Amino acid sequence: MKVVSLVGARPQFVKEALVGEAARRLNAWQHVLVHSGQHYDGNMSDIFFQELGIPRPDHHLGIGSGSHARMTAAALTGMEDILLKEKPDALLVYGDTNTTLAGALAAVKLHVPVIHVEAGIRMLPKTMPEEINRVLTDRISAVMCCCSDLGRRNLAAEGLTDGVCVTGDVMYDLFLRMRPRFTPEETCAAMSLHPGEFALATLHRDYNVDAPASLRGMLEGLMGVQEEYGIPVLLPLHPRTRKRAQEFDLVPLLERLRTCDPIGYLEVMSLTCASRFVISDSGGLQKEAYYAGRRCAVMMPDTGWRELTDCGWNVLCAPERESILQAASRIMTPLACPEGTYGDGKAAESIIGAVRRMPFARA
Ligand code: UD1
Repeated sequence: MKVVSLVGARPQFVKEALVGEAARRLNAWQHVLVHSGQHYDGNMSDIFFQELGIPRPDHHLGIGSGSHARMTAAALTGMEDILLKEKPDALLVYGDTNTTLAGALAAVKLHVPVIHVEAGIRMLPKTMPEEINRVLTDRISAVMCCCSDLGRRNLAAEGLTDGVCVTGDVMYDLFLRMRPRFTPEETCAAMSLHPGEFALATLHRDYNVDAPASLRGMLEGLMGVQEEYGIPVLLPLHPRTRKRAQEFDLVPLLERLRTCDPIGYLEVMSLTCASRFVISDSGGLQKEAYYAGRRCAVMMPDTGWRELTDCGWNVLCAPERESILQAASRIMTPLACPEGTYGDGKAAESIIGAVRRMPFARA
C-alpha cells in the first residue's frame, strides 16, 4: 500500500513527525511526503524537520503565502499532479489549514480515499477559515481520526459515523517522546529568564492580529500581566504579528514586552515547561501547555479543546486588557490537572491500525 502524506504549516509538521515515523517503523505502507510550502521561512518550517527528524519531503509545491483562494487553488492543482503521478491508495491530511482542504479535495475528486487526522473538531464562529476547512475535510474523508471522544460525538451529530475512530492525540505522543530533550533551565538561562517566573505568550490568529483594536488590546493585556503580576511576558513573534504591529504603529507596545523570533518545537516546549503559565491563541499550544502541566489563557472566542475549558484548566479570554488580566488571575490559582484526556501516547499506532482495517487498505 502507498499513502501520500500532505503537510504545509507548523502544526502539521509536528503531527507528521509521529505518524510518518510510525508508518515507517511498522512498515505499514510506503509513505510519500508532500510539503505544500504554505509555511516556508526557516524558523517556520525547516527547524521542525531538523529537530523532529522528519525526512526531506518527496515533493514540494511551493505555494507560499497569499489569499485563501490563491493558496487553496495552488495546493489543489499541485496535489492533483502529485496524486496522478504517485497513484496512492490513500491521502493523509492533518488539521484544518488551507493545505488540508486543498489536498482532501484534490484526492476525493480522483477517488483517492482521504484520511483526516484531528477530525471532528468544531468551534465557533462557523465562518472562521479553519472551521470551514475542518467541516469540509471531514465531509469528504473516508477515515476520521479523533483526538478524543468529543470529536466522535461532534461527527455523529452531523451524521458522520462510518470510518470514525478515537485514536488519541499525536501531539501527546510527541510530547512524551521529546520530553527528555526539553531543556527548561538552559533555555531560560539563555534568555535571561527565571524558571517559574515568566509567562509565555504567542499570538498569530488572523482575526486577532489583523485588526488594530484587537492587536492593541492583546499587547496591552500582556503588558498588564507584566505590571500587575511583576513577571516578564516572553512573546516569540510570528511573522504575521510582526508585520501587523509595524503597519498599525504598535511597535512601541511590542518593545515593552520580551520578544524573540519564532522558535522551534524543542525551544517552545522547554519554555512552556519552565513558564508559570501560558497565554496563547494557538490551537496546539493550549493543549501542549496542558501536557506540560501549565494552564493557559486562550485568546479565542471559542476552542475545539473544550475538555480543557469545561474543567477550568484553560480559560477563554477576549483580545482586551481586562479580559486577559482576569483570565491570568484565574489560571494562577492551583487546580488538579485532569489526566488522560487525549489518549495514552500511542495515537500514531492507533491511526495506523485504523487505516489498515479499512477496506481500501486490505484490497
Ligand atoms: C495557517 C493556518 C492557521 C494556523 C497557522 C499557523 C489556514 C487557513 N490557517 O495560517 O490555522 O494556525 O497557519 O501559523 O491555513 N509568513 C511568513 N513566513 C512563513 C509563513 C508565513 O512570513 O513561513 C507570513 C505571511 O507572509 C503572512 C503570514 O505570515 O503574512 C501568514 O502566516 P500564518 O497566519 O501562520 O499562515 P496562514 O497560512 O495564513
